[in-house]
Amino acid sequence: MSRAPGASAGRKSSVWIMGSASPQETHEIGRRLGGVLTVPGVVLLSGMLGSGKTTMARGIAHGLGMADPTRVHSPSFTIANIYHGRCTIYHVDLYRVHGRRELRSVGLEDFCGKDGITIVEWGELLKDADLAAVEVFLEDKGKESRTIRIECHPGAVLGRPFSGNGGLTRESSL
Ligand SMILES: Nc1ncnc2c1ncn2[C@@H]1O[C@H](COP(=O)(O)OP(=O)(O)OP(=O)(O)O)[C@@H](O)[C@H]1O
Ligand SMILES: [Mg+2]
Repeated sequence: MSRAPGASAGRKSSVWIMGSASPQETHEIGRRLGGVLTVPGVVLLSGMLGSGKTTMARGIAHGLGMADPTRVHSPSFTIANIYHGRCTIYHVDLYRVHGRRELRSVGLEDFCGKDGITIVEWGELLKDADLAAVEVFLEDKGKESRTIRIECHPGAVLGRPFSGNGGLTRESSL
């Protein structure tokens, strides 16, 4: 894992880039991220279909103290699933949401960044919202290989240093 040069506290984003070699490893990275998030907070997950967003969401919920994170599945008939750990966990999937009007109808502003931790799949749809969020980009590199880029925007505070996958796999760099 590497931390981008110049990334520091203050007004700059902190960026971590790492590889994952399996779903278990993506879960573990999510678990470690969940463990350092401060409440209220927002995590935006971006990546193509099947890149591992829900796997990462499950890990984050685990790190937030959810007793049975295997219950985490993408909300299919509702926009948000609500789980409980050391705080309320809102799991949102914007896959079926098109356009600003539909996005407004989701009512994200009721909880997103105000209460608990909100985890948003297809989070790139909120890129203009200027949220103090942690953004996670997952890229499918073939078979079980993924590149995971985690960007902590200014204003998104981590309670403790984030240790990524702790060197479980090859480190990658910017
Ligand atoms: N390194 C990896 N990290 C995460 N998932 C992996 C990895 N390798 C293989 N997989 C597999 O890829 C799939 C990822 O599914 P998941 O539902 O997490 O993706 P998603 O991005 O949420 O998909 P969708 O866009 O449909 O919501 C799972 O079947 C998982 O087992
Ligand atoms: Mg998903």
